[in-house]
Amino acid sequence: MPQKTTLSLIKADVGSVAGHQAVHPRLEELARESLGDAKSAGILKDFYVTHCGDDLELIMTHQLGADSAKVHELAWNTFQRAAKEAEALGLYAAGQDLLVDAFSGNVRGLGPGSAELEFQERKAEPVAVFMMDKTEPGTFNLPIYRMFADPFCTAGLIIDVAMHAGFRFEVWDIKGSRRVFFNCPEEMYDLLAFIGTKGQYVIKRVFARAGQVTEGEPVASVSTDKLAHIAGKYVGKDDPVALVRSQSGLPAMGEVLEAWSWPFMAAGWNRGSHNGPVIPVGMKDNRVSRFDGPPRVFGLGFQVSDAELVGPVDLFDDPAFDSVRWEGAKLADYIRRHGPFEPHRLPMDEMEYTTMPQLMDKVKDRWESLA
Ligand code: F6R
Ligand code: MG
Ligand code: MG
Repeated sequence: MPQKTTLSLIKADVGSVAGHQAVHPRLEELARESLGDAKSAGILKDFYVTHCGDDLELIMTHQLGADSAKVHELAWNTFQRAAKEAEALGLYAAGQDLLVDAFSGNVRGLGPGSAELEFQERKAEPVAVFMMDKTEPGTFNLPIYRMFADPFCTAGLIIDVAMHAGFRFEVWDIKGSRRVFFNCPEEMYDLLAFIGTKGQYVIKRVFARAGQVTEGEPVASVSTDKLAHIAGKYVGKDDPVALVRSQSGLPAMGEVLEAWSWPFMAAGWNRGSHNGPVIPVGMKDNRVSRFDGPPRVFGLGFQVSDAELVGPVDLFDDPAFDSVRWEGAKLADYIRRHGPFEPHRLPMDEMEYTTMPQLMDKVKDRWESLA
């Protein structure tokens, strides 16, 4: 059997231009140098460096498996170097997501976000890489659910017999540090009961079920790092990423993209404290602006072949998504008018890691009892 391939996407916000808007091209150059050296040294098979808004994104292929200390350390050192450069360039929030001084085996818990997929390559292996800015990991719940469980999105769940068995979802309770698995379609309602609460229950991975070519392997993976829980205070939203395999018994690439065909509401946006529409964008619009947003998703498509990355295709650079962007902009107009009122501003319990506790504290002695 040929060696398994691992696709790793590790990302961090290590400083940006014009506030929290965009990554400086010099940081990307530096990351390319660093990963290029690792490719020459035989650690990586291939890589692609890009950004999503103010997040530096390292897309890497190798044969060292998920959670490889070597690959994680490489990403950590790359971010450290980029953070130093950000400091030297006078960028905003230089080093923001690097929450500790020393690396310890894995980037999880240290600030950067990561999603990884380890698999036996099929004859041809199409993958989609999704990167979001100004939102949280649970924002992936709805589109990933639609891709792998909703026949109104993914026609293949009905038409392709290979997909009739459905998919298995691994859901993490990121507040309770525990996980549970649900088999769909039969446990679809149980799954939905949890993943609708997207600030707490997040889809971590999706697996193919018995009888599928990819049986038992992860076919989608989402970063679930929650910066607020690591740092205990607001240090920016997590700006999550996800990897999705597609075609030949998995959702077709077009079905994977169809999941983003309407601007659904997500938590994040300005100060990580507001609900707003998710807008799918191509590279041309891959930075935030209005009210530090609205939240956006940027997607790249590749073929993974002998652990090399062939591509990419700029997945949302298509006029067919203009109506989604337009509807999203109209929704942004609508919801912005609520200003500091819910449901635009997040409810109190989701504000606990922002400056809200300080504001609460300020008036704590002025409350008079009504009892
Ligand atoms: C959201 C985000 C921005 C900042 C905002 C204030 O994730 O990064 O909306 O929260 O620009 O930033 P500071 O507090 O750095 O002035
Ligand atoms: Mg930022
Ligand atoms: Mg960001």
